[in-house]
Amino acid sequence: MDELLAKVQALDAAYTMQTYKRLPVAFTRGRGTRLWDSSGKEYLDMVGGLGVTVLGHCHPAVTQAICEQAATLVHTTNLYYVEPQAELAQLLVERTFPGSRCFFANSGAEANEGAMKLARKYHFTRDGGRDKIVCLLGSFHGRTLATMSATGQPTKWKPFSPVMPGFAHVPLNDTDTLERTVDAHTAAVVLEPIQGEGGVYPLSDEFLRAARATCDRSGALLITDEVQSGMGRTGAFYAAEHSGVVPDVITVAKGLANGVPAAAFLARGEFGEVLSPGDHGTTFGGGFLACAAAHATVRTVLDENLSENAGRVGSALAGRLASMVGEVPGVTEVRGRGLMLAVQLDNDVARKVVTMGLERGVVFNDVSPSAVRMLPALTLTEDEAMTAAGVLEEVLRRVR
Ligand SMILES: Cc1ncc(COP(=O)(O)O)c(C=O)c1O
Repeated sequence: MDELLAKVQALDAAYTMQTYKRLPVAFTRGRGTRLWDSSGKEYLDMVGGLGVTVLGHCHPAVTQAICEQAATLVHTTNLYYVEPQAELAQLLVERTFPGSRCFFANSGAEANEGAMKLARKYHFTRDGGRDKIVCLLGSFHGRTLATMSATGQPTKWKPFSPVMPGFAHVPLNDTDTLERTVDAHTAAVVLEPIQGEGGVYPLSDEFLRAARATCDRSGALLITDEVQSGMGRTGAFYAAEHSGVVPDVITVAKGLANGVPAAAFLARGEFGEVLSPGDHGTTFGGGFLACAAAHATVRTVLDENLSENAGRVGSALAGRLASMVGEVPGVTEVRGRGLMLAVQLDNDVARKVVTMGLERGVVFNDVSPSAVRMLPALTLTEDEAMTAAGVLEEVLRRVR
């Protein structure tokens, strides 16, 4: 083992809370779709910082924006006007809900918290308040108390019970149960158009449309959590666009600033007017550095039409992976859209697959014990996608 990795492992073991099951690698440098570890070994990165580095590592436009902003002004708070925040707001709002409004936070969980607060206040001022938020089983919305309670994975709640009251969970793509659960007490329905951390499970277009109709009938807000699926990842800027469904609030985070912590929730029409001074705020959210990085990121995603590349390369990759079903022992299904894909295995060997991928210079993610996920940069080429698929196939043939 190289010295740097050994040193970092020792420090981590001694001083950080042991909340992560880390793989034995320390990356020290990145460029585009490539990473280098502390021994100088090069990797093809099919994880992209868990769907964060949409432009690839150290994209020149983002690096320049960060460096220029860092040398000019980094922080003043939201007590004052912040030019990069205002410019980013314009860019995002015009792409999302023209004429509407957004709020900047620091993480996906915070964006979801804010969106749910907005829904509650909307009803508080309109009809005296509604106490229910409907989410999906298998969903993931964050790790704060409210977003954990929204998350439809009871195993994640247990040590932190009681969960917050007022959250109901319905099965994925089960329109009847959704329609029965959403009622006059429901403030919002919160959905990931493609469930990410739950294992890459897409919602059907019919289910998303039914959710929109159910919200329209009941007066509940439809909130789409595009923290993982947004920013062009699935072949559209927002994954819900594939179904034609327009939500009331959209949350974004991961890919927003290509790795600098940044998040936002955007609310359409009257919903953008709900929060007033004192209702919501953050010290760091909408800061100079994050907004400069986010502006460069979003501008590049849009100008270079990277969602189109994600859709095209993702289709080719999904096709190649799908050809392994029934051909490569243990591969049972391929799920996802664009460059948000998972390969389902019939055995709990995903961690071993990831380790063997690392040995061969390709970074994969084990989203569950039996599923391997890919969330690479949207700049991935078809050649790179085929290389990754080839390595995965070789590993899957050997792992059994
Ligand atoms: C769909 C979704 N929502 C929310 C979150 C939470 O984001 P964060 O870790 O930035 O709080 C995640 C993180 O994986 C996510 O995938």
